[in-house]
Amino acid sequence: MVTYSINPWMDPAKPVDLPLAMTQWEDLRDRYRALGHTVELLEPLPGLPDMVYAANGATVVDGRVLLARFAHPEREGEAAAHHDWFRSAGYASVHEPAHINEGEGDFAVTSSYVLAGRGFRSSPLSHGEAQEFFGRPVIGLDLVDPRYYHLDTALSVLDDATDDVMYYPGAFSPGSRAVLARLFPDALRATERDAAFLGLNAVSDGRHVLLPQAAVGLFEPLRDRGYEPIGMDLGELLKGGGSVKCCTQELRS
Ligand code: ARG
Repeated sequence: MVTYSINPWMDPAKPVDLPLAMTQWEDLRDRYRALGHTVELLEPLPGLPDMVYAANGATVVDGRVLLARFAHPEREGEAAAHHDWFRSAGYASVHEPAHINEGEGDFAVTSSYVLAGRGFRSSPLSHGEAQEFFGRPVIGLDLVDPRYYHLDTALSVLDDATDDVMYYPGAFSPGSRAVLARLFPDALRATERDAAFLGLNAVSDGRHVLLPQAAVGLFEPLRDRGYEPIGMDLGELLKGGGSVKCCTQELRS
């Protein structure tokens, strides 16, 4: 249910088909399991409809957990639920952030860098905090289009071992575009059309790339690069401004 609006995709007047949303989410979960991945589940809490976008709750690198601190009061309550989950799962190194960061919504991890979005949600100060905690270079990237308010709506890591990424240049400031072109000269650049279906909100295990099925223009280029694209229909989740990646937090050991 969309009960408030904190991004341009969210319209509380537009109905959400709840059973369909549930089926779409279950399909995603089942697909991960069918591919051999382990899926942990976080119990939803009443009054926190955006909790389904689990990517925003934390960032885990080398088994170390940087918790989130949400920009909007509507989502503040989610942080404690993620904290509790990591505590009971036995994670030893869990950092409570001083600065606003929306987890993997704005942090993307490659073998060389942590890429970090700013401009709409995560504070630029959180980038320094992440660099200090993870001991990895953090590259700040400026987001300029409100439709792409989180980094993970505009950029996706395809292979974290080879630093292969795809992104939509139009979501970034000219300087950040230049930084991306310098760091990732061979990146797959998405068109505006594919970005507008949240085609960049994808999850890759280095071989399979799960992405919104409507982003049809990305399938062939992904195949050409040796990936197996898997189209998912998360149309009801799109009404909250999220898709595959938003619903998925990666636990990197
Ligand atoms: N309605 C949510 C918000 O605006 C969507 C979050 C999507 N998650 C993401 N990782 N981009 O905060």
